[in-house]
Amino acid sequence: MIKYEKVNGDFDLSGKSAIVIGGAGGIGESTARMYAKKGANVAIADTKNTVGSVAQSIAKDYGVQTVGVNVDVTNQQSVDDMVATVVDSFGEINILAAMPGFVELHRATDMPIDIIEKHLNVNAVGVFRACQAVAKQMIKQGKGGKIVCITSQADFIAINKHVAYTMSKASLVGMIKVCALEWAEYGINVNGVAPTVVNTYMGEKAWQGKVKDDMIAKIPAGRFAETDEIAGAVLFMSSPESNMITGEDLVVDGGFTIY
Ligand SMILES: NC(=O)c1ccc[n+]([C@@H]2O[C@H](COP(=O)([O-])OP(=O)(O)OC[C@H]3O[C@@H](n4cnc5c(N)ncnc54)[C@H](O)[C@@H]3O)[C@@H](O)[C@H]2O)c1
Repeated sequence: MIKYEKVNGDFDLSGKSAIVIGGAGGIGESTARMYAKKGANVAIADTKNTVGSVAQSIAKDYGVQTVGVNVDVTNQQSVDDMVATVVDSFGEINILAAMPGFVELHRATDMPIDIIEKHLNVNAVGVFRACQAVAKQMIKQGKGGKIVCITSQADFIAINKHVAYTMSKASLVGMIKVCALEWAEYGINVNGVAPTVVNTYMGEKAWQGKVKDDMIAKIPAGRFAETDEIAGAVLFMSSPESNMITGEDLVVDGGFTIY
């Protein structure tokens, strides 16, 4: 059962311990900072070797405990080691924000199959591997938990050259629903947050020049998103305020998928 907790609008995470995978920059670092601001201890988990410096900077800014952990979600041992390190550091895990990401764009007829497999390995199977490992730990702890996966507007709408990315992200929608169904009895919420283009390294890699201008013209809000706007939605999905939401994929797209 997912318990009722009084909703007071504080989005309070004090006493919680969180992992942000993909936390060394972009939306992940913004999310980690927001978690820390709300009182959570935070593990910055990423392939990047800057995990330690990002973790230290967040600890200094918000006065919470942090740890940097190198993880590669395509490797089971690496994910198991991440869980063990975070449990060693904080005692338990209450929140997982899973947002490792890979993108490479080609038209469908030109898409190399190995690039499809790389998207699936990181964005789909890798995210599931992390969710599974963390959910097992949460079930062992017996206190429930929150799992939030970053999906994409590509879950809902066709985007030119995005066939591999869409295969990987849209599959998460089904994964989220099944895991939400199966893990509700342990008090675990599983949700997605589906952004439009966000101004990060990944966003800039995929959207430049005319395609960028054309894309912005299709977004009713008239711009791409900033990382804190996505982190705010992830915070909501990670807090007691969203206890009654599970299996959902929350679009944060400035209206792009209205059409
Ligand atoms: N930026 C956008 O426009 C946009 C839009 C929709 C969804 N997203 C999604 O948001 C998430 C965060 O992306 P971002 O925009 O902050 O970009 P980003 O490139 O800054 O973040 C992605 C992070 O994932 C890490 N990563 C990659 N492979 C990994 C692996 N195998 N194991 C662990 N970590 C790995 C990278 O090192 C990087 O820090 C991604 O899942 C991305 O697909 C981004």
